[in-house]
Amino acid sequence: MIKISTPSLLSLALALAFAAGPGQALAQRGGGGFSFGSYPQQTGEELYKGVCQGCHMPDAKGAKGGSSAGYPALAGNKKLGSKLYPVLVVMRGQKAMPDFSSFSDAQIANVVNYVRSNFGNSYTDPVTAEDVKKMRPSQGATGPGVRPGA
Ligand code: HEC
Repeated sequence: MIKISTPSLLSLALALAFAAGPGQALAQRGGGGFSFGSYPQQTGEELYKGVCQGCHMPDAKGAKGGSSAGYPALAGNKKLGSKLYPVLVVMRGQKAMPDFSSFSDAQIANVVNYVRSNFGNSYTDPVTAEDVKKMRPSQGATGPGVRPGA
């Protein structure tokens, strides 16, 4: 099981201090009433820097893994053109990527909007917390245990 450590307040503060944010998440704090998972970060940028960049790298260009397939780039990744694809990957996990189903609907929407509108990606159709909610297995949209591409 891969453990993701939450960053220290210092590194979070540093990350925020250096954040260049023309494309801040489009749907920050949308949806209201979100339940907190084990991740305190709420905006897409905070979540990316606190959770995703450890694998996908700060520039989202990914990394080559030793014996594994490595971490794919999210920068310029055409698969993000479909907004539901990254939602599913984050919610369900995919192969070597753990799932972040404990994120609230708003957290998933925010981080997906962040990667879809940064790193050279400029998709303008934001995901809403409502979209995410509909894709939760408990909503019956898709069967449990279905993992995209797995
Ligand atoms: C522990 C490392 C790790 C973390 C943390 C992680 N990922 Fe991933 N991610 C991966 C790996 C490995 C893959 C490739 C999975 C595969 O082989 O299909 C991947 C794939 C993806 C894909 C699909 C890319 C493609 O081309 O199919 C997206 C989108 C994605 N991650 C987004 C995120 C977001 C957003 C976060 C933060 C919430 C995140 N990842 C956190 C390891 C990670």
